[in-house]
Amino acid sequence: MLMLNTTIVTISVFTALLLFCIWPTRFAKHYDFIDGDRIYSALVTETTLNISKLQLDECEYEDILEENPFMYKDVYTQRIHDTQEIRLGGEYYPGDCKPRYSAAIIIPYRQREQQLNKFLTYMHNYLRKQRIHYRIFLIEQFDRKPFNRAKLFNIGSVVAAEYGFPCLILHDVDLMPLNLGQMYACTECPRHMCSSLDEFRFNLPYEGLFGGAVAIRAQQFRFINGMSNMFHGWGGEDDDLYGRIIAKNLQICRFAPDYSEYTMLKHTKEVPNADRLAFLRSGPLRYHTDGLNSLIYAQKDFKLHNLFTHVLVET
Ligand code: UDP
Ligand code: BGC
Ligand code: MN
Repeated sequence: MLMLNTTIVTISVFTALLLFCIWPTRFAKHYDFIDGDRIYSALVTETTLNISKLQLDECEYEDILEENPFMYKDVYTQRIHDTQEIRLGGEYYPGDCKPRYSAAIIIPYRQREQQLNKFLTYMHNYLRKQRIHYRIFLIEQFDRKPFNRAKLFNIGSVVAAEYGFPCLILHDVDLMPLNLGQMYACTECPRHMCSSLDEFRFNLPYEGLFGGAVAIRAQQFRFINGMSNMFHGWGGEDDDLYGRIIAKNLQICRFAPDYSEYTMLKHTKEVPNADRLAFLRSGPLRYHTDGLNSLIYAQKDFKLHNLFTHVLVET
């Protein structure tokens, strides 16, 4: 009898422990979000000048937002169709209606060729279905210094400004949105787009996470002095960006989880910057002096490829 009891207790404890470990929402932070039916009115209607002059009826987006179709299989297994529709430099806008949104998609990059190939195929197929105007800017770090993701975004924002883009999407090369309703357009609030990521079991690890893929109006990015140029290696630079936004009394937002599902291509973890936490803590002292207003870099090459605008830089 005693044996049986001990076995039952052991099994129960083991099951409870197992459940605790694998429970999908164990680390989940629940967050405020913009519901699907409020997304359309939350988007800022703004395009580059040339698009605003198109003499066409405005594109419609209601069906995309209502249906929010799951894209992954469809888009991923396709090759890029009709590449001639995509303009030199990786720009696209629909030919039969006038888009409401123009977005510069900025990708910080170095030595991730396989991911880049997958990303370009997927994103051009996905984004053309959104009926927006976009252009993909690949900002590649040429030097061998530790990777500087935030500085590459600053550089991308300067290049995107030369093309008049009012909305910046700061985007990792290994992330792909799963549902079509995550519009690649800006909301008035800087938006964290990938809050439901497979890598984090579709949960948000912490409220202030503002990395991976975010959308921010170009004027707001300038207002917060962009990102820090001083984070080297992995980690912290996105948390510093969050700090800058909050310090200027802006609030971030997210779309509903169904609209924010992303998948990340598998890769080994980069070496974390050992000083990132201390650096992050002292970050507020540098918001005004370290950023767009202190950005120095050397452009080594600039090329328009079929699927992206390539900017090669020394940081
Ligand atoms: N990245 C890159 N080469 C590198 C390191 C980073 O191109 O050597 C870029 C790439 O766009 C990547 C992003 O920086 O998606 C963020 O890095 P990572 O994917 O390693 O971050 P994590 O997945 O750990 O958040
Ligand atoms: C790092 C961020 C990173 C996040 C999620 C944090 O500890 O500081 O840079 O995006 O973890 O991986
Ligand atoms: Mn990654």
